[in-house]
Amino acid sequence: MSRGNVRVRPAATSDISELTALSVDHGLADHLGRRGRKTDTTSMADRYVSLLGDPDRLVLVAVDEATDNLVGFAVLVEERVGVLTPTATLYISHLLVAPSYRKRGAGRALLTAAVRHAEDREVGHVVVGVQAAARDANRYLARLGFAPLVVRRIASVQTLRRSLSIVDSLDRVALRRRRTTVRGVLPGRVVGRGA
Ligand SMILES: CC(C)(COP(=O)(O)OP(=O)(O)OC[C@H]1O[C@@H](n2cnc3c(N)ncnc32)[C@H](O)[C@@H]1OP(=O)(O)O)[C@@H](O)C(=O)NCCC(=O)NCCS
Repeated sequence: MSRGNVRVRPAATSDISELTALSVDHGLADHLGRRGRKTDTTSMADRYVSLLGDPDRLVLVAVDEATDNLVGFAVLVEERVGVLTPTATLYISHLLVAPSYRKRGAGRALLTAAVRHAEDREVGHVVVGVQAAARDANRYLARLGFAPLVVRRIASVQTLRRSLSIVDSLDRVALRRRRTTVRGVLPGRVVGRGA
């Protein structure tokens, strides 16, 4: 599928180095791999190898037809939202266009391909994951008709122990100490007995 001078197609293994470079350059290592390590590029490339081999996911790439350079990508997966009244959706977990190529229709071309994919799978809704603080991206998506869905917040277990003033019984303190000594870290499943 082509839009202007951008063509969108499913990613191939030969795209992995360009996908990796684009992702690492734009700080996506947090989400697709691990960040803050020397192995950023390696772990991101590994992540793409498994994404491309995952039959439930589809990675689309936008390619500049003149240069054949990869200028953007989207990662798609079918997902049901809503636990009580599940609705089938096509979830776009990542949508990224290289800064030098923005405002030329590559984002639209990727979203158009996602809509066609949703139609082919008879999925009635498309969801895009976007950081709440990304104002321009939120405005862009809102203009295209995306409404806010849910806001998920994240906190470390340690933060929650402090904010909830969780106090452990003596046996639980001993258990936590033992686990810390053995494993070096506290397991996420440790739950206090109430404040
Ligand atoms: C959000 C994002 C994917 C949009 O990609 P893009 O390629 O710039 O998107 P488009 O080119 O389709 O549209 C961008 C704007 O350029 C305009 N535009 C498109 N083609 C144009 C052209 N030829 N001339 C002038 N303007 C154009 C569009 O109308 C749109 O305007 P709007 O923002 O006022 O609605 C991109 O900005 C991005 O990668 N952001 C960082 C990552 C991110 O936040 N992703 C979001 C969800 S994960």
